Amino acid sequence: MTADAIDRPREQWGTRAGFLFAAIGSAVGLGNIWRFPKEAYDNGGGAFMVPYLIALLSAGIPLLIFEYAVGHRHRASAPRSMRRLGKPATFVGWWQVGICFFIATYYAVILAWSVRYIGFSTSKAWGSDPATFFQKDFLHTADAPSLLGAFVPGVLWPLVAVWVVTLAVLALGVKRGIEKANKVFIPLLVLLFSILVVRALFLPGAGDGLNALFSPDWSAITDGKVWQAAYGQIFFSLSVGFGIMVTYSSYLKRKADLTGSALVAGFANSAFEILAGIGVFATLGFMAMQAHVPIGEVVEGGTGLAFIAFPQVISELSGGSALFGVLFFGSLLIAGLTSLISIVEVIVAAIQDRTGLGRIPSVFAVGGATAAVSIAFYPTENGLYILDTVDHFINSYGIVLAALVAILVAAVVLRRLPVLQRHVDAISSFRVGKAWQVLLGVVAPVMLIWMSIDSLITEFSENYSGYSTDFLLAAGWGVAGLALLFGIGMSLLPDRAADDFTPDDIAPDKEVSA
Ligand code: ALA
Repeated sequence: MTADAIDRPREQWGTRAGFLFAAIGSAVGLGNIWRFPKEAYDNGGGAFMVPYLIALLSAGIPLLIFEYAVGHRHRASAPRSMRRLGKPATFVGWWQVGICFFIATYYAVILAWSVRYIGFSTSKAWGSDPATFFQKDFLHTADAPSLLGAFVPGVLWPLVAVWVVTLAVLALGVKRGIEKANKVFIPLLVLLFSILVVRALFLPGAGDGLNALFSPDWSAITDGKVWQAAYGQIFFSLSVGFGIMVTYSSYLKRKADLTGSALVAGFANSAFEILAGIGVFATLGFMAMQAHVPIGEVVEGGTGLAFIAFPQVISELSGGSALFGVLFFGSLLIAGLTSLISIVEVIVAAIQDRTGLGRIPSVFAVGGATAAVSIAFYPTENGLYILDTVDHFINSYGIVLAALVAILVAAVVLRRLPVLQRHVDAISSFRVGKAWQVLLGVVAPVMLIWMSIDSLITEFSENYSGYSTDFLLAAGWGVAGLALLFGIGMSLLPDRAADDFTPDDIAPDKEVSA
């Protein structure tokens, strides 16, 4: 650790709006556009809104406030902030760094596909069979998965471009890079996506789609699985459990409205999610009408929705179909890019703190290493298999478990919720009081434990996906395990700068200057 590293002042957001844009940019991502609509449809339609809103208020926002408080009070990257909260928490911070590393490697690939599909939309390059085009003509997917396969140049070059843009934004720093990029990208995303939704609402069959999405099936409310789906959606979509919000809030000024910001970010994310549900289901309604089938037969999520169903719709549109494609894939690209930036920042900030390197060398060293792994494994004939597997395992046994362990260590082992609550209440626009401790210490862990046990049972009883092989299962568990081992290993290293730190708590009634 160099003296320079300790003395260098911490970077800061330029404005509160800048922080909010970045937090919303991180939250609004692929999860909003391609995950939410199908989750809502499969889990009670309009009735899903009840568990969804309860999940947001009872666990999502309390967890967001927890992460804001940890980062803001301890003014450091996720691992160092967790260590400053209490030594036993250190490994959770490094675990999250490992998780972000694996997520970043594949998240970037989906953005690279979106870049190509913006171009494909203009000529409807997929012809009459978007599924075969996506899997075979575009991705050259091998018949059976293996670790290394031939490179697919059509994915390689856009992936390199995505990484260059991401690392360039990060190299410019918190204020000049991340904040500026989000201030441009988020309004642009809202504009593009709103035009898409309005266009979709005028498609024939749009009303049927919306009816299908929003007709409430009230019996779903008594189904435990629906509640699990709601909490799962909220955690993923709000970007909690990744260490992102700890990192971003460490760049806030000393006086910062943590609870107000959590409410704004939480509701903005959900508003975008509902907008996406409307746009996607209006479009699926059109698709079902064209094919003369019930809407249930065309409902898709994930890659199937974006790269197979949407191309199908674009082919069926008469005028302006290219614009529809450009708007959809452009929105996917922008929403994903702002999330990717936040995911890689977790790694960059952690290494910067740990090594004392400046931002630019840190971005090139660790951002470059993440990009190198992403480029080596994914733009190949095996890319789709590996992506699907890593995505499943790191989400189910990475993010969710890390969030759970972080809360349990903070609440039960370290008993730090009261001090965090005092910190939050001293500076925020409204006080969260003891209710926050109950929600965070009881409701959130109960839901997370329930979700984890249930997904483990499903894992072993069903073998998670149609094309799981021993190789993919080993790769999936290997990646989830490696992230955890990395966390434990790194936490054993000494960190004097963390151990010598005394939080500068603000007394509730003391004036602070911004
Ligand atoms: N919250 C981000 C998303 O929804 C990760 O994709």
